[in-house]
Amino acid sequence: MGIERPYIRPRRLRVTPAVRRLVAETRLHPAELILPMFVREGIKEPVPVASMPGVVQHTRETLKKAAHEAAAAGVGGIMLFGVPAVQDAVGSEGTNPDGILQQAIRDVVAEVGDQVVIMSDLCLDEYTDHGHCGVLAADGSVDNDATLLRYAEMARVQADAGVHMVGPSGMMDGQVAVIRQALDEAGHQDVSILAYTAKYASAFFGPFREAVGSSLKGDRKAYQQDPANARESLRELELDVAEGADLVMVKPAMAYLDVLREIADHSPVPVAAYQVSGEYAMVEAAAANGWIDRDRMIMETLTSIRRAGAEQILTYWAVEAAQRLRER
Ligand code: PBG
Repeated sequence: MGIERPYIRPRRLRVTPAVRRLVAETRLHPAELILPMFVREGIKEPVPVASMPGVVQHTRETLKKAAHEAAAAGVGGIMLFGVPAVQDAVGSEGTNPDGILQQAIRDVVAEVGDQVVIMSDLCLDEYTDHGHCGVLAADGSVDNDATLLRYAEMARVQADAGVHMVGPSGMMDGQVAVIRQALDEAGHQDVSILAYTAKYASAFFGPFREAVGSSLKGDRKAYQQDPANARESLRELELDVAEGADLVMVKPAMAYLDVLREIADHSPVPVAAYQVSGEYAMVEAAAANGWIDRDRMIMETLTSIRRAGAEQILTYWAVEAAQRLRER
């Protein structure tokens, strides 16, 4: 029962590791990985984050060591989050020139600032006693425009400390424009903005709240996007680019790969994605139970995020993934 004509055989391009390597459409490189790091004021030893096995709140000293390790692994950037000893209604420590984040920026810029891009979270939730990303109006809602004034001040102190790129993550309207203006007026024209453009009101941020000791009681649905919506991400993209964003970001990553693809197809600036705490925790928890192949799963998730259009990926596995990519 011979066949008239040969089958078309896509499997020919899958038969050996060498041919698979030759035709891979998506490649990961350590330089495009960004490591989020937490630094906490007033601790003597690193404090493990229970819901994120392998992740710690650093002391200033261990942060420096870990930053060196990240640089040696070849990661492209590190994103710093500060955990202050005291929180208050307006998040005063976020604009204290000697606040924990500003000290950590100075430390890390001095240590590895010539090898990796040093980035800092520009948001108030780590610093406020109510846990919201901004300051509150009398009725308890987050006051957009009053918050922008705080963000402008944060941008100035972070840039004064030497940060290379700020990451406004609060989803306030107009935040990129206000931060750009504040930076320029303070002579920080070269400090760039990684805008959290499409950031969703997501349950995937759960473990992060432990990592930064957040006091949030309610939710962020009045400022972060509704998981039901994709179209408004394009509106946010248009605004952020017009306001001066140098990079844009989608967050979380895996549950929003469609949004990521859409943004990547339309963005005139580089597109990043944040593989958030809950994405990390899910894989680590399943792996701890022996239910999945952890190492393969990590690389598969990163590859998927890259394939969907992210050019930079924030991931808590950045160092490990970078090391593994270098061994290949
Ligand atoms: C806000 C911020 C959050 C994350 C990064 N920046 C938390 C939030 O919006 O509730 C989440 C990161 C993660 O879950 O890994 N400063």
